Amino acid sequence: MVNYKDLGLVNTNDLFKKAIEGKYAIPAFNFNNMEQLQAIVAACVETKSPVILQVSSGARKYANQTLLRYMAQGAVEYAKELGLNIPIVLHLDHGDTFELCKSCVDSGFSSVMIDGSSHSYEDNIALTKKVVEYAHAQGVSVEGELGVLAGVEDDVVAEHHTYTRPEEVVDFVTRTGVDSLAISIGTSHGANKFTPAQCTRDENGHLVPPPLRFDILEEIEKQIPGFPIVLHGSSSVPQEYVDMINKYGGDLKDSIGIPEEQLRKAATSAVCKINIDSDGRLAMTAVVRKVLATKPGEFDVRKYLGPARDELTKLYAHKTVNVLGSAGKA
Ligand code: G3H
Ligand code: 13P
Ligand code: ZN
Repeated sequence: MVNYKDLGLVNTNDLFKKAIEGKYAIPAFNFNNMEQLQAIVAACVETKSPVILQVSSGARKYANQTLLRYMAQGAVEYAKELGLNIPIVLHLDHGDTFELCKSCVDSGFSSVMIDGSSHSYEDNIALTKKVVEYAHAQGVSVEGELGVLAGVEDDVVAEHHTYTRPEEVVDFVTRTGVDSLAISIGTSHGANKFTPAQCTRDENGHLVPPPLRFDILEEIEKQIPGFPIVLHGSSSVPQEYVDMINKYGGDLKDSIGIPEEQLRKAATSAVCKINIDSDGRLAMTAVVRKVLATKPGEFDVRKYLGPARDELTKLYAHKTVNVLGSAGKA
């Protein structure tokens, strides 16, 4: 058993309280490898932002759970070495069973998500409550989810959003004891969040996706004032990366994300955690493709993963400064 405090990590409680009061959101960036972790830490130290390092069950399988945990411990030391002891949370993304959440709590995670959104309402409550009881005994914070995001989530494909029902949130948070609530208001995972048919066009002919359901968010906030809300599926899918990927041999079609202005608006509300994974994947893939296509003789992995990491650092710094508003809050 390892407690997160011994690793220099923090849970989300204090960070979320400050984020709601200060009208900004904490970035939750996923990582699967060393370069992604380096970019996250470097960007957040540079912009003085607190950060949530997110590990999915897929990431644990890909990179090895023990190795990932030591990497997160290393991230705390790396941040100090870079000059600032920023608050770092190690969070399980989309935990789907009690056993997985327990395993993360026991191995040093400071926060876990139990995603019971594919279960019935009552089963979601029972599972979430069980995780909360276990995690809270170790000081670990818990994120629950109500509502279903459209798209692919943990191999479960939902064709349509099931928006969070504001009339359920008081009951859910009181009966489960969760510390934060992920909601469904129109975001979704991946790089294809909307079809072109769902979009309109602006004066320059660019596709404009339908706005997030801020009316539902407001209703939820009225029901649970000041309670921390989480937005999943919040990548913006920068067109420049999609174009670069396609220019250098990729084949991404109809890639549309959440406009940054919408996320900025959400960050000023009780939304205090914004999840971003796909944008980082796009940035790295774009640069790796470019280097390999333009320097066909290159086979030193550092020569393509290095520039990809640099681009990722730039992207994440941009997010904390211009989108989430968490820069300067560490
Ligand atoms: O919400 C999903 C995250 O983007 C993690 O994705 O399960 O492929 O690691 P993954
Ligand atoms: P994106 O696919 O929009 O980056 O969402 C990531 C996420 O929600 C991780 O839980
Ligand atoms: Zn998610």
